[in-house]
Amino acid sequence: MIPFGRPMLDQAEIEAVIKVLSGPILAHGPVAAAFETAFAERAGAQYAISVSSGTAGLHLCLFANDVGPGDEVIVPAITHVATAHSAEYCGAKPIFVDVDPESGNIDPAGIASALNSNTRAVMVVHFLGLPCEMDRINADATANGSIVIEDAALAVDATYGAKKAGTLATAGCFSFYPIKHMTTIEGGVVTTDDADLADQIRRRKAFGYDLSHETRVKPGIYDVNLLGYNYRMNEVEAAVGLAQLDKLDERLEIRRANYHALKDALADLDEVTVFEPTQGKAQSCFYCLNAVLPRDGSLDRDSVAAELKAANIGTSVHYPGAVPLMSYYREKYGYKQGQFPVAEWLAAQTISLPVAPHVPDDFANRISTALKTAIQTTKHAA
Ligand SMILES: Cc1ncc(COP(=O)(O)O)c(C=O)c1O
Repeated sequence: MIPFGRPMLDQAEIEAVIKVLSGPILAHGPVAAAFETAFAERAGAQYAISVSSGTAGLHLCLFANDVGPGDEVIVPAITHVATAHSAEYCGAKPIFVDVDPESGNIDPAGIASALNSNTRAVMVVHFLGLPCEMDRINADATANGSIVIEDAALAVDATYGAKKAGTLATAGCFSFYPIKHMTTIEGGVVTTDDADLADQIRRRKAFGYDLSHETRVKPGIYDVNLLGYNYRMNEVEAAVGLAQLDKLDERLEIRRANYHALKDALADLDEVTVFEPTQGKAQSCFYCLNAVLPRDGSLDRDSVAAELKAANIGTSVHYPGAVPLMSYYREKYGYKQGQFPVAEWLAAQTISLPVAPHVPDDFANRISTALKTAIQTTKHAA
């Protein structure tokens, strides 16, 4: 079986974790601080704040900017629900905008039409690792007085011009869930160049303490003058993250090579479209390869995926539905099928194929052969 994804841990992580577990500090300690420094340096950001998940990072970015009831937050119609949920957590209203069919990224023209005096934030998602059209989005949002937050959950080391994802707007949020480009088991990081925002996020991820453990003059004594959560990354997670960073260059290069090998192997399959990983100033970091099936529904995605599974190829879907049509949002806001045609098409008609470093050398051939057979079988069954 070639699984869609697999955590890639070895002796380095095991030893790093044992070292932490053998010591006296398991939370808010020096390993998380070292991880933050290393990640900030890598991303080219002034500040990196470790958090307990990518979702926590997204929430904190809005919360620390005082986004609240009456505010609108623009989000893409296809993403992980975490993007929209972070607005909901703050009592703000997510405003869904459809995406570009060639990239899955939020449509800048759609953002321009949705911006209004209630728009406090635009949350862009670098879909499967390809940065959005940030020049236009930043210009339009700034002119409207709105902040821009990057959901860079799948965009470690993706670039836009000379800059990396996470440094392209007010703040960026990364996720280190087990099968991401790198993992901390659960965990994430917020990057920003804004010192005040970094300070707010740092405090609000830890109950709103005025003094961190290191800065307390009297042990155990602090004041709380802000509402905060417990969204910290622990020392074990940070130790895993540091070990993963050491291997990231090599692993990203394998993803890049794998993506191209698989894209080439699928080139003669007329029924499958593959997103270009370089578009304008944006360069993907190759989370997976999305095979886009015909929009007319002539091939049933679920049948093709089932055939691939029978051929021992693991797949995934990004994402399983347009978020505004998921029950929670549909019931709350009354969205209807057909309102987000591109997101609905991508949700129904794409299959995510593996390109991560766990795949075997012959993976591209195996997947393309299996996909060809799956398409033929599915066509005949129709
Ligand atoms: C685009 C996007 N945003 C946010 C998240 C949530 O990240 P986490 O699982 O670390 O909370 C994910 C998770 O896959 C994601 O794909």
